[in-house]
Amino acid sequence: MEPPRPVLLCVGLLLLVELLLPPPTLAESDDQACLSNLRRSLTDPNSSLQNWTRANFAAPCNGFTSYLQGVTCNNGRIYKLSLAGLALGGAVSPYVSNCTNLQSLDLSSNQLSGPVPSELSALLNLAVLNLSSNRLTGPIPLQLALCAYLNVIDLHANLLSGTIPDQLGLLVRLSTFDVSYNRLEGPIPVLLANRSGLAAGLPRFNASSFIGNRDLYGYPLPPMRGKGLSVLAIVGIGLGSGLLSLVLSFTAVCIWLRVTEQAAMMTNDEGKVSHLMPDY
Ligand SMILES: *[C@@H]1O[C@H](CO)[C@@H](O)[C@H](O)[C@H]1NC(C)=O
Ligand SMILES: *[C@@H]1O[C@H](CO)[C@@H](O)[C@H](O)[C@H]1NC(C)=O
Ligand SMILES: *[C@@H]1O[C@H](CO)[C@@H](O)[C@H](O)[C@H]1NC(C)=O
Ligand SMILES: *[C@@H]1O[C@H](CO)[C@@H](O)[C@H](O)[C@H]1NC(C)=O
Ligand SMILES: *[C@@H]1O[C@H](CO)[C@@H](O)[C@H](O)[C@H]1NC(C)=O
Ligand SMILES: *[C@@H]1O[C@H](CO)[C@@H](O)[C@H](O)[C@H]1NC(C)=O
Repeated sequence: MEPPRPVLLCVGLLLLVELLLPPPTLAESDDQACLSNLRRSLTDPNSSLQNWTRANFAAPCNGFTSYLQGVTCNNGRIYKLSLAGLALGGAVSPYVSNCTNLQSLDLSSNQLSGPVPSELSALLNLAVLNLSSNRLTGPIPLQLALCAYLNVIDLHANLLSGTIPDQLGLLVRLSTFDVSYNRLEGPIPVLLANRSGLAAGLPRFNASSFIGNRDLYGYPLPPMRGKGLSVLAIVGIGLGSGLLSLVLSFTAVCIWLRVTEQAAMMTNDEGKVSHLMPDY
């Protein structure tokens, strides 16, 4: 039983070394690409991102500690990016999708413009997406439906347009959904308005999730408004018909005057009822 001992020791040492080794460098360089490209796409007028430096991008995490403001690490990988209310401008870089372990992305209450990148769909662990109170434009990408763990989608108070993708209704874990105060249009997806069609006991998103979009309609908002009956159209119709009846009655009065005038002149010719002629 003597000889196997060194072998076991070797195997044990190898396992120990494996456990102590840092996570694969490929993963780190993904996070690095994510951070450096995100930084490049942002403007930072208040210098909130002072330690977002090239050197820190190469090694953003030390186990569970991060060297960067707004970055939270878990076992050497970035799992949370939270840069809310820092007066940041610029765009949401599609390279955020390189932070492949990201569970929470919060860039809310800034001045961000440009689209919500459809590449976010590569973030398969994403649970929280908060891009509210920015100036984001373009559509809500239907690819977000690929992020199966999404719990929170908060896109309220932006300038997003187009329709709400039906596919988002299939996100079973969604507990918060807010697209209020944008420029969205079209029908509200049935599976977002009434989630009991998807599975029992799912939260139902009420009107507060959808208000502030002029051309969005259907339960829980009122049904589609008549397209031609905007306030302007109603005013137009009112003015138009008013004018028409004015013209018609004026014409009628004129005709009546002519007729009575002629009749009066005829009676006048007979020299009898000239005093009946109206004095206009
Ligand atoms: C990075 O900056 C933030 C805010 O300015 C600060 O709280 C944090 O301690 C800094 N981290 C390091 C490692 O310097
Ligand atoms: C940014 O800086 C301006 C002026 O220095 C200040 O008024 C504003 O409150 C700051 N905003 C944030 C989010 O720090
Ligand atoms: C990083 O993000 C870019 C832009 O979305 C993408 O083209 C590229 O494939 C990503 N790379 C990795 C390794 O995920
Ligand atoms: C998104 O962020 C804003 C502040 O930036 C916050 O008020 C709001 O509650 C957040 N949304 C969710 C669903 O947590
Ligand atoms: C919601 O969906 C369920 C099942 O599809 C249906 O029975 C119920 O009437 C719907 N409720 C509303 C308010 O549309
Ligand atoms: C709508 O739902 C939100 C939570 O999603 C809740 O806070 C709010 O009270 C609800 N409003 C109404 C009118 O039911």
